[in-house]
Amino acid sequence: MRVPMIAGNWKMNTTVSEALDLVSAMKGELEKINSVEIAVCPPFVSLAPVKELLRDSSIKLGAQNLHFAEKGAYTGEISPLMLAELCELVIIGHSERRQYFGEKGDLINKKMVAALNAGLTPILCIGEQLEEREGGKTEEVVSAQLREALAGIEDPKATVLAYEPVWAIGAGKAATGGQANETIAFIRQLIAGAYNDKKAREIRILYGGSVTSANAAEFMQQPDIDGALVGGASLKHKEFLSIVNQTAIVKYKK
Ligand code: PGA
Repeated sequence: MRVPMIAGNWKMNTTVSEALDLVSAMKGELEKINSVEIAVCPPFVSLAPVKELLRDSSIKLGAQNLHFAEKGAYTGEISPLMLAELCELVIIGHSERRQYFGEKGDLINKKMVAALNAGLTPILCIGEQLEEREGGKTEEVVSAQLREALAGIEDPKATVLAYEPVWAIGAGKAATGGQANETIAFIRQLIAGAYNDKKAREIRILYGGSVTSANAAEFMQQPDIDGALVGGASLKHKEFLSIVNQTAIVKYKK
């Protein structure tokens, strides 16, 4: 069975002290749940202090972005090697990076290769815009995004995928469990085609987009959904804890 994962994408929220407060408020309760892999992805500046706070903890730490070069004259950027000393995971290709920072397939691919080379686990985000869904192009869009991001990667190792329909992100309007599962099952088939059936069975595919404590169970009941990438609700410790708790209950109820 795939171990479910709940990852909090804090985006550009929390100062260092707020980040420490948020982790402190939920750490103890989260650590009691060992059937779900739990991760928090605070802003870069909080990675080192949060790492310290999570010393000996089962809670994993992730970054939200990276540059593809190991080092060099790229003012303001953060390299995979820098991250590898601080965290295990890194979000790549988030729709906000694609939308506001012009990230496209070839850049996302370079970041994927760089993250894997540095031993980081990428959480690769893919998903269609509203017009694309309405135009019946969802499968075409996610296929292209996946193909571009994984180009030339022979072994995606422990890569985690996150299907995040852009129209559901930060919108308060999530996809339905059925809609999300349908596309995620399709993405799993794409992995079978690009790699093999074993990899498709093993790879974890999360849903992201307006996940809250009120709808988490609906997503976790779906057979192909292996967890969630949670934005807004991950900034509220009780909400995040409830989502993790419900995941543990729903996924292991049999
Ligand atoms: P949201 O964000 O939960 O606030 O919709 C999810 C994401 O962007 O990863």
